[in-house]
Amino acid sequence: MDRLQRKVALITGATKGIGETAARLFAQEGAFVTICGRDSVSGEKIAAELNAQREDTAIFCKLDVTNYENWKETIAFTQKKFGKLNILINNAGISFRETVAETTPDTWQKTLNTNQTGVFYGIKLGIEAMAKTGEPCAIVNTASIDGRVGDADFFSYCATKAAVEAMTKCAALYCGAQKLPIRVNAVAPGYILTPMAQEDARQNGQTLEEYCAEFIALHPIGRIGTPDDVAKAYLYLASEESSFVTGTTLMVDGGYTAQ
Ligand code: NAI
Repeated sequence: MDRLQRKVALITGATKGIGETAARLFAQEGAFVTICGRDSVSGEKIAAELNAQREDTAIFCKLDVTNYENWKETIAFTQKKFGKLNILINNAGISFRETVAETTPDTWQKTLNTNQTGVFYGIKLGIEAMAKTGEPCAIVNTASIDGRVGDADFFSYCATKAAVEAMTKCAALYCGAQKLPIRVNAVAPGYILTPMAQEDARQNGQTLEEYCAEFIALHPIGRIGTPDDVAKAYLYLASEESSFVTGTTLMVDGGYTAQ
């Protein structure tokens, strides 16, 4: 229950899905949490629930990860409220079910803005804020099986998730070279049952049952993942239990990429 005691964590895209589950888990483990997202109603509600369990545990801060100034304000707000920043979980992401032929300049740019540029902004400003703490800090980015293997139906998404792995390695090496006590890693989930998966099923013209049946078959472990599976991987990489781990990507994919 105290794996993140006295740590201050900022989680993007935390108003639903994997990010929400991570915010709740991190609070349970003793962290102070800035819940970031664009949905104020959901974000304020989650923060209030966490504060009812332990006073002054969580705040909601509206953050569109594609906006650099908004990032600066959110980190400054976190530092003002909690005094520092130790952990950044770059979780926010979007996907379009589109082949290279179907991808438009608009959807390409939207995917890059959120999944790649948004993560760059977070890493850059996160390192700047964490360097001031002098404490062990961690950044965890969210890649995907789709950054490791190609998927004809997710052209721009695959491109951005591969970029997340590259940025993770470069930033980890930078922190090492600068002797900053900041580790940078990524988690690469397989198919996880979240609102994103529900939207993907919709775009694919499938019911959720049909969608799950199709994608379970691709995961040797015999099921698709839960938000909790990914949140626990974030927790490991954010905590000092992974103090010798940096510059790597942890596959949380039920064996999808082992085949
Ligand atoms: P979700 O769609 O349920 O939640 C994503 C969150 O990101 C939402 O709260 C959304 O509002 C937020 N978001 C999107 N664009 C944003 C922006 N510009 N600024 C701020 N917030 C923004 O998705 P889910 O499934 O929880 O995904 C979380 C992460 O896990 C994403 O990076 C996704 O790419 C990754 N992932 C998910 C998989 C899945 O099967 N669900 C598989 C592999 C990776």
